[in-house]
Amino acid sequence: MDLMHHIPVLLEATRRTLADVLGATGAWLLDGTLGAAGHSSVLLGDFPGLRVWGTDQDDQMLAVAQEALASFGDRAVTTRARISELGELFAAGDVPFEGAPAAMLFDVGVASPHLDQPERGFSFQADAPLDMRMDLRREVTAADIVNTWPADDLADLLFTEGDERRSRQVAAAIVEARRRSPIQRTGLLADLVEGVVGGGRIHGATRTFQALRREVNREDAELRAALELGERQLAPGGLLAVIGFHPGENRVVKRWAREAESRGAFERVHKKPIVADAAERRENPRARSAELRVLRRLDGGAASPSEGGVR
Ligand SMILES: C[S@@+](CC[C@H](N)C(=O)[O-])C[C@H]1O[C@@H](n2cnc3c(N)ncnc32)[C@H](O)[C@@H]1O
Repeated sequence: MDLMHHIPVLLEATRRTLADVLGATGAWLLDGTLGAAGHSSVLLGDFPGLRVWGTDQDDQMLAVAQEALASFGDRAVTTRARISELGELFAAGDVPFEGAPAAMLFDVGVASPHLDQPERGFSFQADAPLDMRMDLRREVTAADIVNTWPADDLADLLFTEGDERRSRQVAAAIVEARRRSPIQRTGLLADLVEGVVGGGRIHGATRTFQALRREVNREDAELRAALELGERQLAPGGLLAVIGFHPGENRVVKRWAREAESRGAFERVHKKPIVADAAERRENPRARSAELRVLRRLDGGAASPSEGGVR
């Protein structure tokens, strides 16, 4: 399997928007969801003075990224970390470059290689252990949730994180099935859910799998940590770019951006989120639900960054 196979989403729009700060002398970018380094390698290529600190929670993706970034030498430094761990690294001064980052990029969610590897348990299209952890240091897997959560909690999760309208029926079917034997495989869960909600244009288990993945990886909490990190650590004038793929995710960013604007910490660079054009949507199905939001940190923000500003 080709782990490098990941097409960066909204690459041109990200490049164009961040160009404002990434070309400045001494600028560095924190790419907090490095993945296959698709965005970062293009940015390093386009801005000869730029340096990138690329972090990811997944060892396997980091290995892929290191290969992709090797030709940039010490302009690219990689670290294994969850977004929610980055605040501590900044506080401890455990940061590879001087001063505050000119930009931060968070392209949240799974990478295509995650979905392409059945053994990681993200996909309902292949039978595999029901895992879904992007960070294998996490203890709770999707199987743990499916086999131990009370029916009501399961139903709430499927409704809020997966937009599954038949969440109560799906949860009831899960509880009924697990009484007979634990649900340990993606195939079994996918068939069970499809039996309740039926098929259609998208697989019936899509929403359930999305909800489980978001819970296993605590994706909303991680996203909030990303936004807060931007407020604490970005240079004044620096840009915080977030690409979300899920309405829930996009809502979190939108609300936070509104509040951050009203307390004078950030301003929106574009009034509306940037979405993929028809050509990109055709070429990359992942791009269809992607929304890019970019915020500029203002001097009047709540916290002051460690050093310097960019404009
Ligand atoms: C959509 S991919 C990023 C792709 C990347 N921009 C590229 O072009 O190659 C998301 C990556 O972020 C990582 N990730 C997701 N949530 C994370 C988190 N909370 N902390 C650290 N890494 C995370 C995943 O492991 C995955 O490799």
